[in-house]
Amino acid sequence: MEPIVNPEIKYKQIFINNEWHDSVSGKTFPVLNPCTGEKICDVQEGDKADVDKAVAVARAAFKRGSPWRTMDASKRGQLINKLADFIERDLQYLSSLETLDNGKPFLEAVEDILVCIKVLRYYAGWADKIHGKTIPVDGQYFTYTRHEPVGVCGQIIPWNYPLLMFVWKVGPALACGNTVVLKPAEQTPLTALYCAALVKEAGFPPGVVNIVPGYGPTAGAAITEHMDVDKVAFTGSTEVGHLVMQAAGKSNLKRVSLEMGGKSPLIIFADADLDDAAMWAHAAVMNNHGQNCCAGSRTFVEEAIYDAFVEKAKYMAENRIVGDPYDATTQQGPQIDEEQLNKIMGYIESAKKEGAKLESGGERLGSKGYFVKPTVFSDVTDDMKIAKEEIFGPVQSIIKFKDASEVIERANRTTYGLAAGVITKDINKALMMAHSLEAGSVWVNCYDIVTAQTPFGGFKMSGHGRELGEYALHEYTEIKTVTIKIPQKNS
Ligand code: NAI
Ligand code: MG
Repeated sequence: MEPIVNPEIKYKQIFINNEWHDSVSGKTFPVLNPCTGEKICDVQEGDKADVDKAVAVARAAFKRGSPWRTMDASKRGQLINKLADFIERDLQYLSSLETLDNGKPFLEAVEDILVCIKVLRYYAGWADKIHGKTIPVDGQYFTYTRHEPVGVCGQIIPWNYPLLMFVWKVGPALACGNTVVLKPAEQTPLTALYCAALVKEAGFPPGVVNIVPGYGPTAGAAITEHMDVDKVAFTGSTEVGHLVMQAAGKSNLKRVSLEMGGKSPLIIFADADLDDAAMWAHAAVMNNHGQNCCAGSRTFVEEAIYDAFVEKAKYMAENRIVGDPYDATTQQGPQIDEEQLNKIMGYIESAKKEGAKLESGGERLGSKGYFVKPTVFSDVTDDMKIAKEEIFGPVQSIIKFKDASEVIERANRTTYGLAAGVITKDINKALMMAHSLEAGSVWVNCYDIVTAQTPFGGFKMSGHGRELGEYALHEYTEIKTVTIKIPQKNS
């Protein structure tokens, strides 16, 4: 598939009740092209007043007796499938728009959006299969449970996988019969806004899906503090995750699910095939320019193969093709914005100062846009900043270890727990590692395999709750227990 270079931007307003609105304040904000730092367009800037409007219509759409609440669950599934159909129809355009907005290589944007379609179809299938149980209780009662929608769901998403995060959030929410007020990241609102038009075209009733673009401390905070939002789902930084929980605690104790960052270990044992291991380790940290919550950002390598591994890792980084994301050979485009660029460069400087050995990269590429050379550090130790904090950039930290029990302890010595990987040919070692690592996903002889069917989320400060798979339905349903007295005498 060929990209559309400079796709037309069709939707720049706030989407409420299936209609397009200017912001109440009259404000707009610029969306920048990360390849150049230049403005793509201005988008209407939602804040509290717009969130209030969106929540009011989402509440009305959720009211008992509304078209959405009385709709057959199977019909809800059909609507979600229709949305998937339209995304599929517009795949070329949407992928081109994603590349423009986010900077990721076009073919990776296509991959992302193909996964979006799968995720929506997966949840479309669930819509009429969400059911409770009958429970044999003590006493003469008939008891059953119902899995009911939670209500108005606030959803706040980041910029690294803009449309994927949109779908991960709205897919299960809609399958369960909720209504949604979603805020895309200020860096990347364009594909979510385009999909809003597809939501309308698919025939969802007004108010079921509302999209309010804007900034975090204004529009985002208004969602998390809102007294009439029943649940908030957030993906982003741990720092903001704290704020989201606090806001929920200070307002109406809304349900919270959080998916935040990580410092995920990828552990390579000496029995591994070296080329294969180097390939997985490179992909684990470099994919999506390192802007990946489950990036394998601590590459632990067993002593015996350490030096040989470092050579391979260095070679792969030096040969990674960085540049124009519309070019089919490009593997890495720009980082998302200047703030992220500066953050990454700060980590690279800290590593140099703290005595890590720079093997490759270590600097910005060019002076226009936010490109960073794929960077590899060896001789990284656990106490260095780059081994402890989330970099969210194309920076590989290679750390030496001696044996399994030592590396388990070191790998787990982090406040995060999103993912982990193990590369070994020894099944016993693989199993022992998989059960010992404190992480929501453990990959053996692979990395970053995330599918519609499998739950994804974090231990420890990487998050609360699970997205994807059947497990995500728990985040979007309330369980109701209904108990009915069984008469004892015939009358
Ligand atoms: P962020 O957490 O500030 O932004 C994520 C989303 O939260 C955006 O939609 C933003 O507008 C919103 N937000 C920001 N402040 C908010 C507030 N007070 N209340 C409600 N919503 C708010 O992340 P940012 O600044 O874009 O990136 C900072 C770091 O976070 C990255 O360097 C990376 O380490 C991490 N991150 C992790 C992601 C993940 O997938 N887990 C995604 C993006 C960032
Ligand atoms: Mg932020």
